Amino acid sequence: MQLIDTHVHVNFDVFQPDIEAVRSRWQEAGVVRLVHSCVEPSEFKSIQSLANRFPEMSFAVGLHPLDAEKWNQQTAEEIVSLAGCDSKVVAIGETGLDFYKADNKEQQRHAFETQLAIATELNLPVIIHCRNAATEVREVLQKWKQLKGESVRGVMHCWGGSPEETQWFVELDFYISFSGTVTFKSAKQIQESAACVPSDRLLIETDCPFLAPVPKRGERRNEPAYVRYVAEQVAKLRSESLSAIADVTTQNACDLFGLTV
Ligand code: NI
Repeated sequence: MQLIDTHVHVNFDVFQPDIEAVRSRWQEAGVVRLVHSCVEPSEFKSIQSLANRFPEMSFAVGLHPLDAEKWNQQTAEEIVSLAGCDSKVVAIGETGLDFYKADNKEQQRHAFETQLAIATELNLPVIIHCRNAATEVREVLQKWKQLKGESVRGVMHCWGGSPEETQWFVELDFYISFSGTVTFKSAKQIQESAACVPSDRLLIETDCPFLAPVPKRGERRNEPAYVRYVAEQVAKLRSESLSAIADVTTQNACDLFGLTV
């Protein structure tokens, strides 16, 4: 069985002491490719060196909406130059909108729209972080589609929306990626969404070190090997086999990010 973890942050300090052991466990769990996400430019070098060290790892470059105050011309140039010259860069992100506690909505929107332009220019997909902002993210993507005549390609990562919101992004040709939150007992809405996503739009991720899935919930650190628990839960919710979910999500990740396994 082959799995792809489409969203990891293993450059964080919490992985420093034992990254090789963590890697052995993801290999044992069948994780054959990983897409390393990126929060802000000071991480570019550390992520790039991890991707150089581990052949199975590709990465994204971008600025997280919660870091939107760091957006400037230099950030944009760094993203463009790294994405343009390193073939291991397979996406722009994470970008998006996080309105949970935001007082900088316009700044977030500007950084998001500029990163959509960069992704389009470089013909790369975007990794979208969306919290308390599904309506606004949809508006931005719809406006983009009208302007350009076609959708940006991308994924709604660590998806937490309702089935109705899920449908909005499926209609915009987006992939929908589920994390450990889909295993949480209280997450009925996310579970309903996981059950209704079309097979050819479904992705899985850990978003590690955050959000360890059941039965590892409560551990201080999530890790890529645990994407298997996400796959098992998604399989259960869709009344499909684990191997069917592994196959379809691996194929989808290859299609979106241009990976081969
Ligand atoms: Ni992330």
